[in-house]
Amino acid sequence: MRRAVCPGSFDPVHHGHLDVVGRASVLFDEVVVAVGVNASKSRLFGPEERLAMLEEACAEWDNVRVDGFTGLLTTYCAENDVRAIVKGLRGAGDFEYELPMAHMNSSLTGVDTVFVPTRPEWSFLSSSLVKEVAAFGGDVAPFVPAPVLERLTARLAERRAHGA
Ligand code: PNS
Repeated sequence: MRRAVCPGSFDPVHHGHLDVVGRASVLFDEVVVAVGVNASKSRLFGPEERLAMLEEACAEWDNVRVDGFTGLLTTYCAENDVRAIVKGLRGAGDFEYELPMAHMNSSLTGVDTVFVPTRPEWSFLSSSLVKEVAAFGGDVAPFVPAPVLERLTARLAERRAHGA
């Protein structure tokens, strides 16, 4: 069984993420979308909400499941018999950021990283941009699954109501 992991914060998941997950599901027997819980970063959505949105968005793939992890990604990989980490690359900036992490992860436990070029139509997408555009009233419907758009709209409305 060749198992791979697609790690990320997914705050929230967007079509660029899902493109990479879907392509990883063709390359590997099983793909685990692993949601990192990094306490130092402030998130719009809590871990349970991010997991729920991903579970819904990944339901179409039989060999994809969703899980949460804390601590080192390499520990998660070792404990779950994960053979490869799959990361999408939108451009050279992502490569610069990801390469040291790939080397570090490989040095720690030997787990390899597979880079997948993001499709051009999603190469400008990031969760941060989606949140910023949505917060200022821009239309992000083309970039996220419909249930994510619903939650995003509701969360931003809640925040506005509380003056945040
Ligand atoms: O979507 P993000 O914010 O780029 O995801 C980052 C994530 C969760 C994949 C990354 O922060 C991570 O792997 N965190 C786990 C901690 C870890 O293993 N750190 C060492 C990296 S070499």
